[in-house]
Amino acid sequence: MVDIDKLVKDDGSEQSREIFWNQDLYNLEIERIFGRCWLFLTHESLIPKHGDFVSARMAEEEIIVCRQKDDSVRAFVNSCTHRGNQVCHAESGNTRAFVCNYHGWA
Ligand code: FES
Repeated sequence: MVDIDKLVKDDGSEQSREIFWNQDLYNLEIERIFGRCWLFLTHESLIPKHGDFVSARMAEEEIIVCRQKDDSVRAFVNSCTHRGNQVCHAESGNTRAFVCNYHGWA
């Protein structure tokens, strides 16, 4: 297990390079930060029209943020509800629907 107190000098002047590769530390970030905090996915100005979308990541999870017909903005996991296939492979764009290329669920 990683000793967090030893990763940054007391005066804040240096940090261990271990923060970039330690799997235990990464797992802690997933649990304590990405798993329980509000995360920035995009700015609504990037999806101004109905059907505009952008792809984003929430830690390990692929997310689609999309402008709806009623002008609201929704975010959902980029995964088909049938068997989990990824439904969107583009970084951004405009679409009427996200259709799974495996069995065609939309
Ligand atoms: S896995 Fe997507 S429709 Fe079956």
